[in-house]
Amino acid sequence: DWNSGNVIAEQVAKIRAQVGAGKVICGLSGGVDSAVAAALVHKAIGDQLVCVFVDHGLLREDERRQVEEDYVKATGIRLVTVDVREQFLVALEGVSDPETKRKIIGREFIRTFEQAQAELIDEAKEIDGDPIRFLVQGTLYPDVVESGGGSGTANIKSHHNVGGLPDDLKFELVEPLRTLFKDEVRAIGAELGLPAEIVQRQPFPGPGLGIRIVGSITQERLDLLRQADAIVRFELTAAGLDREIWQCPVVLLADVRSVGVQGDGRTYGHPIVLRPVSSEDAMTADWTRLPYDLLAKISNRITNEVDGVNRVVLDVTSKPPGTIEWE
Ligand code: XMP
Repeated sequence: DWNSGNVIAEQVAKIRAQVGAGKVICGLSGGVDSAVAAALVHKAIGDQLVCVFVDHGLLREDERRQVEEDYVKATGIRLVTVDVREQFLVALEGVSDPETKRKIIGREFIRTFEQAQAELIDEAKEIDGDPIRFLVQGTLYPDVVESGGGSGTANIKSHHNVGGLPDDLKFELVEPLRTLFKDEVRAIGAELGLPAEIVQRQPFPGPGLGIRIVGSITQERLDLLRQADAIVRFELTAAGLDREIWQCPVVLLADVRSVGVQGDGRTYGHPIVLRPVSSEDAMTADWTRLPYDLLAKISNRITNEVDGVNRVVLDVTSKPPGTIEWE
């Protein structure tokens, strides 16, 4: 029967057999899957693995620090952070169409990853003349099934990673989670000693806060949304509900304004939408009946603490017809 210790031992042996003395690269997203996949590979081959974390500025509050400090401390993994916040803002300037945003984010992400890889290969050459041959992917069993199953190394999921990776990134894939379900991945992550904030994290889309601003993306809007999102996550966790709900997108309606009265007078601010959902697999979902007291607390805090927001609204639509994300 299933036992996380056995799975770890099995995968470690498999990774060693596949990789030998080769160099391996892994992109960390801040999410559970890539974090656990990288930790397994690191356990197997140590510093033959280098991880790359792309800070594109569409991350949530504290995510970068959790990866750079907590995750690195827990694993000892060698991590390179690439800060491309400015580059992403410029590339996304004036864009409000959701699919165009995704395309731009995917393209910029790949570009960044390739640049980082080129630098790392140079670096590796100085050490022992060995280029990076393998790429770790946190593909899970449901992803394999969804994409038609077991076509070997060519099969890279596109939805969950930002836009997927191009074919000419000639890497051999290492996919240590390929036979596992999400709860099993969480169990392995816990067994490997990864931080709970990462292992228990709810799904978060690759394009990040970029597809939670309805309208174009600016630094100011990102900061505002990040602050509102942090309040919601804090209060859901404090209420002990973060593990019960599947996800709670927090959405900024950047092109909508409404009149409010705050402090000394009239305001003309933006609404924030709360989108708490319950789901098994994100294919269908129902809106979560959060306690009124909790909703009141979240609403009060957001309107008091986040400058420019004067209204908080609740999305009471199931999926279908609504998708989980607004974009
Ligand atoms: P929807 O909005 O289609 O979302 O009901 C279903 C699940 O997928 C996530 N999602 C994404 N994940 N890149 C991702 O990595 C994307 O472009 C993307 N769009 C949606 C969403 O958060 C939900 O879990």
